[in-house]
Amino acid sequence: MVGLGPRKPPSRKGSMADVPKDLLQTIQHLESIFTVDTSKLTEITDHFVKELEKGLTKEGGSIPMIPTWCMGFPTGDETGTFLALDMGGTNLRVCEIHLPEAKGEFEIIQSKYRMPEELKSGTAEELWGYVADCLQQFVDYHHEGKKPDALPLGFTFSYPATQDYIDHGVLQRWTKGFDIDGVEGKDVVPPFEAALKERGVPIKLSALINDTTGTLIASAYTDPRMRIGCIFGTGCNAAYMEKCGSIPKIDHMNLPADMPMAINCEWGAFDNEHVVLPRTKYDVIIDKESPRPGQQSFEKMIAGLYLGEVFRLVLVDLHSDPAAHLFEGQDITKLKKAYTMDASFLATIEEDPFENLSETADLFQNKLGLRLNKPELELCRRLAELIGTRAARLSACGVAAICKKQGWKEAHVGADGSVFNKYPHFKARGAQALREIFDWAKSQKDLIEILPAEDGSGVGAALIAALTLKRVEEGNHAGIRDPQGLLEGTGHHAKK
Ligand code: BGC
Repeated sequence: MVGLGPRKPPSRKGSMADVPKDLLQTIQHLESIFTVDTSKLTEITDHFVKELEKGLTKEGGSIPMIPTWCMGFPTGDETGTFLALDMGGTNLRVCEIHLPEAKGEFEIIQSKYRMPEELKSGTAEELWGYVADCLQQFVDYHHEGKKPDALPLGFTFSYPATQDYIDHGVLQRWTKGFDIDGVEGKDVVPPFEAALKERGVPIKLSALINDTTGTLIASAYTDPRMRIGCIFGTGCNAAYMEKCGSIPKIDHMNLPADMPMAINCEWGAFDNEHVVLPRTKYDVIIDKESPRPGQQSFEKMIAGLYLGEVFRLVLVDLHSDPAAHLFEGQDITKLKKAYTMDASFLATIEEDPFENLSETADLFQNKLGLRLNKPELELCRRLAELIGTRAARLSACGVAAICKKQGWKEAHVGADGSVFNKYPHFKARGAQALREIFDWAKSQKDLIEILPAEDGSGVGAALIAALTLKRVEEGNHAGIRDPQGLLEGTGHHAKK
């Protein structure tokens, strides 16, 4: 099938001529529950704006809106060598980043380590031990024989962590399927540092960072029009720069009203109270069966971890409905296994270039041992389209809400993550939703654009570490617990 260009993401609605009537009815039902029309988009966005504001108040709301103590954008003049560690949902990445004198440039070396699946539900000790081992390996390999100064580290820890200081973060709750005992409710930095110390690794944590904040800062380093950093990956979230004067919950710190502060929204928690999101019974099941029911309502409808699972739950449900005639007489044991399909399964279906959907047929045959007839293939394709489109359109509501709240009529938004980078048509569908929400004239170009970001958890984390040290050197100690301690051994010194 030929793509129809960015304005009209493709749809197979027209290829249903040979689909029997009852299956057609099923498809129509799925369309009705998974479609988010323009008026719903607007309703969600307006409610989102209120919830973002609420999160900044002393009383707070569902969306955590965490002040990160990353207080300003880079100028391009940052220099030095930094380490960056990214503990994401799937991989652990360690980088060494050199920021040279040349404005806006960087050099990077990096190693990736797989996050073993069993670690995600293991013990805190195993987790920090594994992370420290990876860092040790990296430092030993790249600084062989030399004892470097304590290398300043930006640690990207992409979970909701409350930060009283920049080198501190109390994990509110695990997300993205992690379920490690003894970490929630505690500062993650001391056990991490203890594991490094035990191994004698010469690293000094300068900043604990969310991936969205890293994305915002890295993107702004190369594009000054960047206003928001987003991740659409295993999880989803955004960060933007607020003014301290607009954050009532830090009023007591008496910071200058126009001083900037990056806010890690943690918008995955939007609508945990189920006021506005058009949840289906499948979303309800995902939530109920997850390690943290009642949390991350928005994320569970749009993030990569869940897209395949929504799809799977629909198919299992239809199979059990005699009227739907789906996979009749076939053994669906493999399909019954939770989280057996990831978002790439849906992506492959949506990308199937053949009119007879033969790649989709092969996929079902190879992965699930199911033989699909043409109407069943059509249903699966349409369902993947519906789930992928819903995710992109709902995601756009979050972006639109931040822009509306801040009064930004034009903005660049830096986005990263597997869904944004790899899921077919995600960008075009998101752009289309923004158009509908803001009702831009047809002749008008996109005023708010979601663009591929710079490397947030590498370059972004290094820049935030650099900005933090610079700020301490210059005497701005807001959100710094121990200014002298933070500089110690790093080769950085407070300016006289
Ligand atoms: C986490 C966020 C993170 C996002 C994207 C969510 O599950 O709570 O901290 O930014 O995933 O990685």
